[in-house]
Amino acid sequence: MRILTVDLGDRAYPIYIGTDLIGDAELYRRHIGGRQVMVVSNETVAPLYLDRVLHALGGGYRVETVILPDGEQYKTLEVLNRIYDALLGARFDRRCTLVALGGGVIGDMTGFAAASYQRGVNFIQVPTTLLSQVDSSVGGKTGVNHPLGKNMIGAFHQPLAVLADTGSLDTLPDRELSAGLAEVIKYGLINDAEFFAWLEANMDALVARDRDALAYAIERSCTDKARVVAADEKEAGQRALLNLGHTFGHAIETGMGYGAWLHGEGVGAGMCMAADLSHRMGWIGVDDLARTNALVARAGLPTTPPAELGGDRFLDLMAVDKKVLDGQLRLVLMKGMCQAVVTADFDADKLRETVGG
Ligand code: NAD
Ligand code: GLY
Repeated sequence: MRILTVDLGDRAYPIYIGTDLIGDAELYRRHIGGRQVMVVSNETVAPLYLDRVLHALGGGYRVETVILPDGEQYKTLEVLNRIYDALLGARFDRRCTLVALGGGVIGDMTGFAAASYQRGVNFIQVPTTLLSQVDSSVGGKTGVNHPLGKNMIGAFHQPLAVLADTGSLDTLPDRELSAGLAEVIKYGLINDAEFFAWLEANMDALVARDRDALAYAIERSCTDKARVVAADEKEAGQRALLNLGHTFGHAIETGMGYGAWLHGEGVGAGMCMAADLSHRMGWIGVDDLARTNALVARAGLPTTPPAELGGDRFLDLMAVDKKVLDGQLRLVLMKGMCQAVVTADFDADKLRETVGG
């Protein structure tokens, strides 16, 4: 097992990465303070892994579970309410701990429930997708979608610990593995050229689920993310770089209807669109654009947006973004290969060429 730390002073927390962590009773004991535990999962993950969690929590705790429907389309305020119903129904108090067992949807929703239940209770992330192990379980962004915009309702609330059990990836569908690889590639493109080159050399092994390659990619991704989060927890500055490809990707997710494109698929195409605009601006070369597209494609991800959205609609959707300040759209683009910046300094006509139409 490897242990990384998200260094947030007195709220610092560990990311445990290894196999057989889901059922590791000692890890839960180490972090759970009170006696009440609510495990939140969904109808796909619970049959696979809930028993191991319940077994690990057996004995000393009063454990309740809430099982949500599976899918991005259920990442809503309405479905979130079921967690509050379960907590209040069980009369759980402020010393309770929530355990998020699942991918990014369960992690984001459970985290937001923890941020808001009785003005804030503790929670532990047990991410079971590649995407959630390399990104969403780390850093404390929690929330739900709104019909008009992705992740528009939420809060920052850090977990007590992250238990990334790499063995859980064995049951993950290939399409979901690819979605996770989008966020892995993102770290390379932001500012880790060495990691990007490693990914170019090892993408086939990752897609083939080579355990060592996956473990390295998870650890490197979490290391990169933990560094950014420690420096800028509430996204006053550099944390926005972690949104490379996301303004384009969120527009695709919202425009196509939540769940039609996976989050990672939107990010994959979105990173290629960010590279395309960066190239049109003269900030990266044609070779850099080709390298970006090639790596995203080798991960099994789309490199272009869905044609049916159309340019006007795409730009409209992009205007609903948390990086918009005083009505001005800011984007994460590259000024040099693997050198991302947040900027409003792009040509609107070139952006229109990138989004099409
Ligand atoms: P997800 O949570 O929908 O999980 C993907 C699918 O895999 C689901 O059907 C799920 O039930 C299934 N699944 C999960 N673990 C499994 C396993 N071990 N075996 C078999 N099936 C399994 O999607 P995701 O890609 O994990 O997360 C995407 C979400 O994360 C989006 O809502 C996105 O906005 C959010 N996100 C948040 C942050 C953040 O910083 N908070 C960062 C990136 C993404
Ligand atoms: N995934 C973006 C962030 O955590 O900031």
